[in-house]
Amino acid sequence: MIELVRLAGKIVLVTGAGSGIGRATAILCAREGARVIAADISLEPASGQLAVQADVSDSEQVQAMVQRAIQEYGTIDVLFNNAGIAVRQTVAEQSEQDWDRVIQVNVRSVFLCSKYTIPHMMARGGSIINMASVVGITGVRNRAAYSTSKGAIVALTRNMALDYAQYGIRVNCVCPGFTETPLTRGLLSNPAAVAKLTALHPLGRLGRPEDIAAAVLFLASDEAAWITGVALPVDGGFTAGHATDV
Ligand SMILES: NC(=O)c1ccc[n+]([C@@H]2O[C@H](COP(=O)([O-])OP(=O)(O)OC[C@H]3O[C@@H](n4cnc5c(N)ncnc54)[C@H](O)[C@@H]3O)[C@@H](O)[C@H]2O)c1
Repeated sequence: MIELVRLAGKIVLVTGAGSGIGRATAILCAREGARVIAADISLEPASGQLAVQADVSDSEQVQAMVQRAIQEYGTIDVLFNNAGIAVRQTVAEQSEQDWDRVIQVNVRSVFLCSKYTIPHMMARGGSIINMASVVGITGVRNRAAYSTSKGAIVALTRNMALDYAQYGIRVNCVCPGFTETPLTRGLLSNPAAVAKLTALHPLGRLGRPEDIAAAVLFLASDEAAWITGVALPVDGGFTAGHATDV
C-alpha cells in the first residue's frame, strides 16, 4: 500500500517551534514527509529536525536562521510564522516597553522572517502561514497590544497574498481560539476561567495544539493550492457568534 504524505520533499521552516502550537506543527509536518527547520529563541527540538536558535524579532538572527536553512536544504517551501508572546493589559495599564515588545515579537518578526525568506521562494513558489488569533478578528477585553498585533497580522497576510500571488507564493493566516499551551497555562490554571472560556467556544472545549497544526498543514499543502489571503478561524466556533440560547 502506498502511504500518502502531504508534504513529501518540502522544506518547512517553523518559528516558535520549541513549544505549543509550533512544536505540534513541526512534528506533524515531519510526519507528513517534510524536512523541518525548527526555530525558537529557546529550543528543545523534537528529534530529527534541524534546530536553529533565533530571536525572530532580531534582523541579524533572522538572516542567520534563513541562511542556515538554505545552506542545509537549498530552499524553503513553507514558512510558518508562529512565534509570539501575549500580555493581558488595557492601554492605560500597559507599559511602553511591553507594548513595543509585543509588536516586535508578533509583527516585526513576521515582516523579518518573510522579508528574508521570500527571495528564496520566488523562483518556484511556496506557502507562508502567519499566526494570527481570534483576537485579530473580534474583541476580547484586556488584550490591547496583543489584539493589535494579531489584527496587524490579518492585514499583513492579505497584503502579502496580493503582492506575491504572481510568484506562486500563497499567504494565509490562522486565527486560533483559546488553545491549551504553555502560553495560556497561567490563565487555564484557574478552573473558573477555564469554564468561562470553554463556554465561549460552541464546540464545547478549548483548542489543542494539534487542532491548529492540522489547519496549518492543510494551508501548507498542495490541497490548498487555490487558497490565498484568507484568515482562517480554527476556534471551535468562537468567532461564529454567541453560543447562548436567547
Ligand atoms: N495558545 C493560544 O490560545 C493561542 C491562540 C491564538 C493564537 N496563538 C498564537 O500562537 C502562537 C504560538 O503560541 P503558543 O500558544 O503555542 O505558545 P507557546 O508559548 O507554547 O509557544 C510560543 C513559542 O514562541 C517562542 N518565542 C517567543 N518569542 C520568540 C522570539 N522572539 N523568537 C523566537 N521564538 C520566540 C517561545 O520560546 C515558544 O517556544 C503565538 O503567536 C500565539 O500568539 C495562541
